[in-house]
Amino acid sequence: MFTKAIVRKPAPTMINGLTSANDGKPDFDLAVQQHEAYIQALESCGLEVTCLEALPEFPDSTFIEDVALLTNTCAIITTPGAPSRRGEIQGMRGLLEHYFENIEAIQTPGTLEAGDVMMVDSHFFIGLSARTNLWGAHQLLAYLQKYGFTGSVVDLKEVLHLKTGVAYLEGNNLLACGEFLTHPDFQSFNILPIEPSESYAANSIWINDTVLVPQGYPHALQTISQAGYDVLEVDVSEFRKLDGGLSCLSLRF
Ligand code: GLY
Repeated sequence: MFTKAIVRKPAPTMINGLTSANDGKPDFDLAVQQHEAYIQALESCGLEVTCLEALPEFPDSTFIEDVALLTNTCAIITTPGAPSRRGEIQGMRGLLEHYFENIEAIQTPGTLEAGDVMMVDSHFFIGLSARTNLWGAHQLLAYLQKYGFTGSVVDLKEVLHLKTGVAYLEGNNLLACGEFLTHPDFQSFNILPIEPSESYAANSIWINDTVLVPQGYPHALQTISQAGYDVLEVDVSEFRKLDGGLSCLSLRF
C-alpha cells in the first residue's frame, strides 16, 4: 500500500522539454489543469500528496519520478542521465529527510533515472537505457543489497525508460507491450498485453488496488478492468508530448 506521493508543478518552460514525440509543443495552461486533476486522482486513491513548486530552470522537472527511488526502508537520489535534467535533484535530500532515515545517492559516472526501475515486491528490475548506465545500475544494485532487496538488470531496445513499456500491477500481473511481451525476464508474470497502437497505456500505475490509466486507450482500459482492477482514467495528453507518462509525474511511497 502507498500512503504518500510527491509531485512537482510543471513550469512554463516545460514547452521546451526533451521529447522524441512528434506531437507538437504542450499547451502549458492545459498541462497545469491536467496536473491538478492528476493530483486529485492520487488523492482519490488515498494518498497524501506533497506538491513541490515548479523549477523553471529545468523544463522536465515535473517528471519527478526520475530523480529518486523510494523504498520502504531507504531513498536513493539519482543522477539523471540527461544532462539538462541533472540539476533536478536539488532540494531532494532535504525533502526526503522528512520521510527517510536512510538516504543514498547515485554518483557519476553512474547515471540512473528511476523511470528505469520497476519494483516487484522486494525485487527491482533496472533497465539499461540511454539514461541509465551500467555504473548507475551497479551502484543501485549495491544499495538494494545493503537494505535487503534484490535487483536485476534488463537491456532495453525500443523504449525511453523501462516503465515506458512495462508496469507491475501487483498480484503477479504485468502490463506489457512491444519488446517486453516476449522478454525472457518477464515470462513468469501473468502478462496483460497492450497493443502497439495503445503502447502509451503500458505506463499505467497501480495505487492501492486502483489502476490509473491514461485517457484515450479503450482496449488497455478494458484489459485492466477485466483483470479485476478498479480503473481511473487521467488525461495526460500534454505530458505525453514530452514522452512523459502517468508514473513519471509522481513519487509514490
Ligand atoms: N521529457 C522527459 C524526458 O525526456 O526525460
